[in-house]
Amino acid sequence: MEEPIPLRDAANLFGVKVDRLRRAAWDGRLAGRLVGNQWLVVPSEVERFLRESGRRRTQTEPATRREGAHMARIIAVAVPKGGTGKTTTTLNLGAALVEQGQRVLLVDFDPQGSLTLALGLRPDEQEHTIHSAMKYYLSTFEPQLELAIRPTSIGADLVPATIRLNLANAELTVAPQGELVLKKLLAPLLSRYDVILIDTLPYLGILVENALVAAHEVIVPLEAEYLATESVSLMLQQVQFMRKSGLNPDLKVSGILLTHVDTRTVLNRQFAEFARKEFGAQVPVFTTVIKRSVRFPESQACHQSILQYDTQGDGARAYRAVAQEVLDAAA
Ligand SMILES: Nc1ncnc2c1ncn2[C@@H]1O[C@H](COP(=O)(O)OP(=O)(O)O)[C@@H](O)[C@H]1O
Ligand SMILES: [Mg+2]
Repeated sequence: MEEPIPLRDAANLFGVKVDRLRRAAWDGRLAGRLVGNQWLVVPSEVERFLRESGRRRTQTEPATRREGAHMARIIAVAVPKGGTGKTTTTLNLGAALVEQGQRVLLVDFDPQGSLTLALGLRPDEQEHTIHSAMKYYLSTFEPQLELAIRPTSIGADLVPATIRLNLANAELTVAPQGELVLKKLLAPLLSRYDVILIDTLPYLGILVENALVAAHEVIVPLEAEYLATESVSLMLQQVQFMRKSGLNPDLKVSGILLTHVDTRTVLNRQFAEFARKEFGAQVPVFTTVIKRSVRFPESQACHQSILQYDTQGDGARAYRAVAQEVLDAAA
C-alpha cells in the first residue's frame, strides 16, 4: 500500500502547481482524502490524473454533453445571500451573451420576481410562469414551458416568476422526485438555446436544489465584503453535496464573481486579494470584477440592460468581459 502524502508535497514531486491538484481533488477528478483543511493523495493516483488530463488536452475532444445534438449550457447564478448581484448578473450576462450572438433564455426562479420586474414585465399580470409550468408538470408529468417563454427588450427570452412560486416549496417537497422538475422542464429547450441562465433565490431549499440539479454550472456572485464569504463557502458545500449525493455528479463552479467592488477603498482592494486566495485554490474566480455603480439600479429602473443603458461604461464593459470568460471556458 502506498502512503498518502500532503497535496503540496505531491505538487513538488511532480513539478506542477498545487492549485491544479487542489482543484482536481476538490471536484473529484483526483482521488484524495480531506483531513482538516489539507488534502492527502497517493502519488500513483496523482500520476494517473496528470497522465490522463494531459492526454485529454491533446485530443481536444468535445465535452460529452456537447456530443451529437446541440445542447445549451445551463448556468445557475446562486448564493444563499440577498443583494449580492445574482439578478443583476443574470440579466447583464444574458444581455452580453446575446451581443455575442448567443441564443439566451433567462429563467426567473426567485419568487420575488426581481428579474421579471427588471425586464419590464408586471408579475401580477403573468398567467404562464415558471410556477404554472411546474404545477402542470406535477399533475401530468409533461414538460410544457413553451407558454411561459417571452421575448424581452434585451434580446434574451425570459420565463417569468411571481410571488406564487413560493407555493412550489410545499408542492415540490411532497412530489415524487421533486428536485428534478426544473431539469425536466428545461430538457426540451436545450436544442433551442446556447445558454440558459437561472436566477435563484437567496435561501437554500428545494427551489435552489432544483436549479442545481438542472444546471451544468454555477456562477457564485460574491459581494466585496468580508461578511459575504460565509455564504460563498456554504454555496460551495452545496455544490459538493450535489456531486457526492449523485443528484448532479458533473456540476461545476464556472467561477466566483466579485461584485459591488469599490476600487477606491483599500479594504476593497485587500478583499479582492483575500477572496482569490481563500477560494481561488479550489474553484475558478473570474478575472473580471464588477465595480459598484449607481448605473446598475438605474438601468434596472428603466428596464434596460447595462449594455443598453450605459453602452460604453465600466459596468457594460465588465459584463461583456464576464461573457467572454464564460464563452472561453467552454471553448
Ligand atoms: N455592481 C453594482 N453596483 C451597484 N449596485 C448594484 C450592483 N449590482 C447590483 N446592484 C444593485 O444592488 C441591488 C441588489 O442586486 P441584485 O442583483 O438584485 O442582488 P440579488 O439578486 O443577489 O439579491 C439591486 O438594487 C441592484 O440594482
Ligand atoms: Mg435577485
